[in-house]
Amino acid sequence: MIDLRSDTVTQPSVGMRHAMAEAEVGDDVYGEDPTVNRLQDYAAELLGKESALLLPSGTMANLVAFLAQTHPGDTVILSEEAHPFRYERANLARVAGLMIHTIPDTLGKFTAKDVAERVVVEDDPHLSRTTLVSIENTTNRGGGACWEFYDVEAIAAVCRNNNMRLHCDGARIFNACIVTNVEAQYYARCCDTLSFCLSKGLGAPAGSILAGDKATLKRALDYRKMLGGGMRQSGVLAAAGLYALENHLDALEEDHRRARIFRRALEGEGLRFPLPSPTNILYIEVNNPERVTVALKQHGVRVCPHGTGRIRVVFHRDIDDHAMAQSIEVFKQIVC
Ligand SMILES: Cc1ncc(COP(=O)(O)O)c(C=O)c1O
Repeated sequence: MIDLRSDTVTQPSVGMRHAMAEAEVGDDVYGEDPTVNRLQDYAAELLGKESALLLPSGTMANLVAFLAQTHPGDTVILSEEAHPFRYERANLARVAGLMIHTIPDTLGKFTAKDVAERVVVEDDPHLSRTTLVSIENTTNRGGGACWEFYDVEAIAAVCRNNNMRLHCDGARIFNACIVTNVEAQYYARCCDTLSFCLSKGLGAPAGSILAGDKATLKRALDYRKMLGGGMRQSGVLAAAGLYALENHLDALEEDHRRARIFRRALEGEGLRFPLPSPTNILYIEVNNPERVTVALKQHGVRVCPHGTGRIRVVFHRDIDDHAMAQSIEVFKQIVC
């Protein structure tokens, strides 16, 4: 099976499995897992932040970032396409008690002006104050779109001027860094908190990092525990994360290259890709996504149906050139 449903389907590499098997571990709830501590220090340094925390998932990283930087009844501004708005079981409302003010845009991005137009800072008994803005880089539903550094910087300025926090859901931040040629620490510098996933294109079996200042991360740690995310000998997972950061980062570029080749080959056959796809995520217009998904699966290619008229294809480290070429042939046969 050639599995193009998501970059979350990646299997731990052989080297990663060795690193996991050999990891030195301790009880992380006591702060005593040396491998977790090493990963957290490594990630904080990579992002130029005071502190970093390992969490079980990107969803929990976002949630604790929201909890740690807001109060129930506050408003958060984010894209209508944002993962926490679309795909995290309404946890912002149900767990964090937040009002959500969305900004429409097919690429999942917005501008400083969009934010400024929506901010509520007045101390008025009728209103819910905006205390947090959240961006997503790259954007999942936006076809892996990347934020320009200056756009993030401009939004950060609006946040600073209005006493609001800025969070970046950087589940795939390193994919963005490759395209924009901006190091992750520069994006992180604009944001109060930034999270990224170890378990997507980087290939770890689980785990996300949230980075920020010490005081915010202390609150994030409390919320992680409250949500049941206090893990014990999680150095086994941290070892996978460290291995991914040390060995798998560069290969993300290969995923982008294969996505480009795949797209060009099938555009040449008349398929329509409704969004630009600068990284590893592609959307393709089809008449009947469910039927196409089943037919592709019968021919050994798995994709995600997406709404009424699209399927999603994601390139990742377990798809080599051969699998990419094979998937193009199957698409030509089934979809074109
Ligand atoms: C942009 C984005 N943020 C957050 C998440 C959530 O990550 P997880 O599946 O680890 O909870 C995802 C998962 O696909 C994502 O694409």
